[in-house]
Amino acid sequence: MERPLAGTLSDTVPVEPSLPDAFTIGGRVRVAPNLVLAPMSGITDSAYRSLVKELNPGVVGLVVTELVSIEALARHDLRTHRMLRYLPHERPLAIQLFGSDPARMAEAAAIAEGLGADVIDVNCGCPVPKVVKKGGGAELMRQGPTLAAILGGLRRALSIPYTVKIRAGWDESSRNAVEVARLAEGEGAAMIAVHGRTRAQLYTGRSDWELIAAVKDAVRVPVVGSGDIEHATDALERLRTTGVDGVMIGRATLGHPWIFREIAALRAGVTPPPVTLGERLAAIDMLLARLAADLPPEGALGRARGLACRMIKFVRGGAVLRETLTRAPSIAAMRGLLADAAEVAAVDAVTVPDPRPAGAPSPGGATQAPTGDVAPALVYAPTP
Ligand SMILES: Cc1cc2nc3c(=O)[nH]c(=O)nc-3n(C[C@H](O)[C@H](O)[C@H](O)COP(=O)(O)O)c2cc1C
Repeated sequence: MERPLAGTLSDTVPVEPSLPDAFTIGGRVRVAPNLVLAPMSGITDSAYRSLVKELNPGVVGLVVTELVSIEALARHDLRTHRMLRYLPHERPLAIQLFGSDPARMAEAAAIAEGLGADVIDVNCGCPVPKVVKKGGGAELMRQGPTLAAILGGLRRALSIPYTVKIRAGWDESSRNAVEVARLAEGEGAAMIAVHGRTRAQLYTGRSDWELIAAVKDAVRVPVVGSGDIEHATDALERLRTTGVDGVMIGRATLGHPWIFREIAALRAGVTPPPVTLGERLAAIDMLLARLAADLPPEGALGRARGLACRMIKFVRGGAVLRETLTRAPSIAAMRGLLADAAEVAAVDAVTVPDPRPAGAPSPGGATQAPTGDVAPALVYAPTP
């Protein structure tokens, strides 16, 4: 890895030098390491992406925006343009677009390139009815000619690489990720990200990593796998067993945004540095401050409540804090509550290696600190 993490050398963590640790998109965007923050609507705005980058210095290879409507972007909708602001250290940055009209896609992609995107990603996986009914998202997996026209249009419109993010297929009877990946590669897509669930599955069942591996075997461009990476060890296991060029992590970052540095540490044979409760609260506070600065008050408060609650999910005693945060009338009030909680945490020596049940082995092979040895109200104690 480029940047070894602080931590102790552990004889329980094997170094994994043989695993791929970087790839390049379209010969010009280097993704190093090969760990990608997944696009998540309502979550991966600049505040969240930049926080994740900072909590995992040097070890998030690529971040992707929330999905953005090509119609809104092309008509220069102010809110949509605001959604696409980013901080320099977020780069390389992929801007993800959704829609189905090839000409409009090309127009919007050119605007996104002008805003500084390093990569344009076409959403072919969104399952939401209002998106698929208009021919976008996962519907594109059933509309090969339209997808081909979209990608052909991007080839002519862009000087930066473009990629697709697909699902396993539409439903059980059409698990066509391999065919769609081949089509996309043929039309110039420079990377294929695959979430191994069908559109019909939404988020139920499990991501099919055998199918993701089959996509990897079928194309020459980099393939990034997505779905159900919950712990740092899962990421290494997927890289080891499927041959994918990289992995994408979404929901696990919500409860544990430090997962990228843990993966990097494990890969380097270093025990991941633990995360203290104080660090966790400080990270949430930082996120809230950024949301308050970036968004109008109403939007910021809604997003702040949702994210803060998700990030406190694995804290024992956190239910009370969650509830009070949810009722707080403003972000300033939420930050006050967090400051109070941080004071308690300051006298608390609890560390938080990984969101898993107390007593379960941590990624480093050590056992998580038993929760009974800490008195204050807020104690990290993940539930299964
Ligand atoms: C709240 C939420 C929003 C999402 N929004 C998007 C999106 O805008 N674009 C996209 O391609 N995938 C989106 N996804 C799918 C994720 O990128 C990812 O493929 C999926 O969650 C599986 O990975 P995970 O198990 O690591 O979360 C979203 C997922 C969640 C949970």
